[in-house]
Amino acid sequence: MRDTSSGNPRHGKGRRRLGACLLAVMAAVLVAVLSACGGGGDTKTVTVSGAAPDPVPAPGEIDPARTAGVNWPVTGGDFAHTQFSPLKQITTENVRNLKGDFMLDLDSGVEAKYSHEENILAINGILYISTGENDVFAVDARRWRVVWKHDGDLDPAISSVCCGWESRGLGYNGTDTLYSARIDGRVEALDLKTGRVKWDVKVFDWKTDNATSIAAPLFYRGLLYIGNSGSEYMARGRVTALDADTGRLKWQFWTTGDGNDPVADPTWEGDSARTGGSGLWNAPAIDRERNLLIFGTSTSSPDINGSTRGGDNLYSNSIVAIDATTGRYRWHFQLVRHDIWDNTVSSPVVLFDAEIDGEKVPAAAIAPKMPWVYAVDRRDGRPIYPGRETPVPQAPENKTAATQWIPSTPALMPLRVTDEQYRMLVGQIRTSMAIPNGATIRVNRPTDGDVAELLYMPSGTEFGAAITIGAPSGGTTWAPMSYNPETHMLYVCGQQSVGWSAQGPATGRFTEGVSVLGGGLGTIGFNAPGYLTALDADTNEPVWTYMLKDENGRPQSCYSGSATTAGNLVFVGKNDGRLVALNATTGEQLWDFQTGAGANAPATVFEVDGRQKVAIVAGGNALAGSTHGANLWVFSLDGEMLELDGLQRAGEAIEHANEETGAEPGEGEGAREEATREVSDRPDAAAGRQVFADNCATCHGVTGRGGNGGPDLTSIPDTRNFDAVKEQTENGGSSMPAFRDTLSQKQIDDVAAFVNDGIN
Ligand code: HEC
Repeated sequence: MRDTSSGNPRHGKGRRRLGACLLAVMAAVLVAVLSACGGGGDTKTVTVSGAAPDPVPAPGEIDPARTAGVNWPVTGGDFAHTQFSPLKQITTENVRNLKGDFMLDLDSGVEAKYSHEENILAINGILYISTGENDVFAVDARRWRVVWKHDGDLDPAISSVCCGWESRGLGYNGTDTLYSARIDGRVEALDLKTGRVKWDVKVFDWKTDNATSIAAPLFYRGLLYIGNSGSEYMARGRVTALDADTGRLKWQFWTTGDGNDPVADPTWEGDSARTGGSGLWNAPAIDRERNLLIFGTSTSSPDINGSTRGGDNLYSNSIVAIDATTGRYRWHFQLVRHDIWDNTVSSPVVLFDAEIDGEKVPAAAIAPKMPWVYAVDRRDGRPIYPGRETPVPQAPENKTAATQWIPSTPALMPLRVTDEQYRMLVGQIRTSMAIPNGATIRVNRPTDGDVAELLYMPSGTEFGAAITIGAPSGGTTWAPMSYNPETHMLYVCGQQSVGWSAQGPATGRFTEGVSVLGGGLGTIGFNAPGYLTALDADTNEPVWTYMLKDENGRPQSCYSGSATTAGNLVFVGKNDGRLVALNATTGEQLWDFQTGAGANAPATVFEVDGRQKVAIVAGGNALAGSTHGANLWVFSLDGEMLELDGLQRAGEAIEHANEETGAEPGEGEGAREEATREVSDRPDAAAGRQVFADNCATCHGVTGRGGNGGPDLTSIPDTRNFDAVKEQTENGGSSMPAFRDTLSQKQIDDVAAFVNDGIN
């Protein structure tokens, strides 16, 4: 752990105070009252300024325009998913005074397999949070304590989670009910006041559908919309609309056509649409004027092998609009035809008005894995920014589309593959078990400057393997962008990542819990150089770019999303645990704050008793490999809590707290070491299986054969060496996190034994 605090009294004070707070939280397990820790608490006198907050918005009309930014009642802040707050108490002038009101360790979703990507809802001073364990919390932002907790009680055996266990947020009906869409395919309606379950329905079955729900559920005019992911497991994408009062199914819109869809059906060979993927990773936006539900869709399935699904494969990799009431198709724009790269289009759609050629155009924008923002006209789905159909390299055996629509505006990050990146990826290909001929396959490197090649170099059994920019980990994956109507800019998070793909045998079959990519896929990692870019919303031209770096100046990915305010600010979280505030007009960094764990979720901005607050759960990310935790922070200009002195897991912080406060070391540490010494002589490969599933499978795949960023562990000679595996697990590698602080010695030994035994 880094210590940035030496000789800095500001940090010293913050650390001590926080240590004590954490201790209190842990001791009282989630119901700790933190008023003693940050000063004041509910006894503090506050002056209520301005109009009283609108207490209860009418059902279906929960747009914060009505509550003037007091509430953040829907993920993304509003139905347009702008991540914008009209509040302007916190400004470019005073943001440097922003401090923590309180921090609460939610102690949920802290293992490596979880990611904290949840966007917090704020409703009349209460924060509503869902974690990757599908635990739901109501936290009183006035009294700094948990009001209720609903236990997600997820089955740990769920085997259809592709890319980290996470929840992107909750739904809210504007009056008395919250909705939780779960990883196991169930949807729960919870009483807003008590957390009591009102109804609970199974929308799909993770076993028989291989699907998961990560996207926040969305309530609008009596309906509850649920999205599902699972393209990596041949799960078919759909929007499910439920009666929000009863949970009864109203309709489903199938994103690969339904046998009755004249637009999508003809774009799939044979019955490939049935297992065609194209899921939703985020909640739709709502165009209220046109009564449209607008969303992005993921890649087709199987991801890398397109040979059995000839055609464009609609509505995969698209922006799609359907009627919000009936679910009928209205229009679509496909960003990638016949995807064979995993070029998912899955961050939330953002709605705004653009001015194009002097005309006001209602627009819908999305940030995909390709390094641009794409936007369409909400009246007909036509692209509004310049770009053109461009011929791309062909691999007939993978049934490549002849052309792709490529933007002609500047890319958000450099378009190139360095020699070092190329060598690293070739190394992965040579040892991959996902393809039969990795050792000898030809690897095609795109020509610098040729955008069609850099993005759309195909792979094929004849053609060979491909190095590409973007997929699978680059550009924007899931992170929400924000739109500020006052600067008229879009703020988009992305990373300059380079990957490879190679078509494998077309034997993919839908099998419970089995990921089917149809080939090999790899990347330089999810922690590639990251950029937060401000785009002119009329032209798609970058206005400024902020590169994310750690305190040693090393680049890190932008893996959190942004929120923006009328105080001319943009908030963005970093892998190194810092939440930063930038000047929305210039990109200048004005404030940063160490939260203690990867700040990998978008911030929420709200108001309590006339005071503006900013909230975030900093809890790390399974793919970005950032430090895990579950630190709920609320900041304001009245806050008194200083930042932490570095990244630390909750457990370590307790040990720190003991040192800091001079208290006797608790039983915790000593007892743990004792236990470790006793048993660690005999590594237990069987016990290591669960450690692997919880901490390693996200990147290395359940069967260890690789997948999302981690190489195939079954084929690498080094994994036959117990000490080498142990060392790698303890210390991590280029983009693999170190586990020495998160796993016990015993767990490390066990998982090393499991890997050493060939993961079986
Ligand atoms: C965030 C993604 C990620 C997670 C989680 C992860 N790894 Fe890795 N792992 C990687 C990457 C990327 C590499 C290759 C780069 C490197 O060697 O640094 C790697 C390499 C390795 C290697 C070395 C293979 C070789 O080349 O010799 C081993 C062994 C390994 N991981 C084991 C584990 C174990 C055990 C866990 C869980 C305790 C784990 N990994 C969790 C991403 C991950």
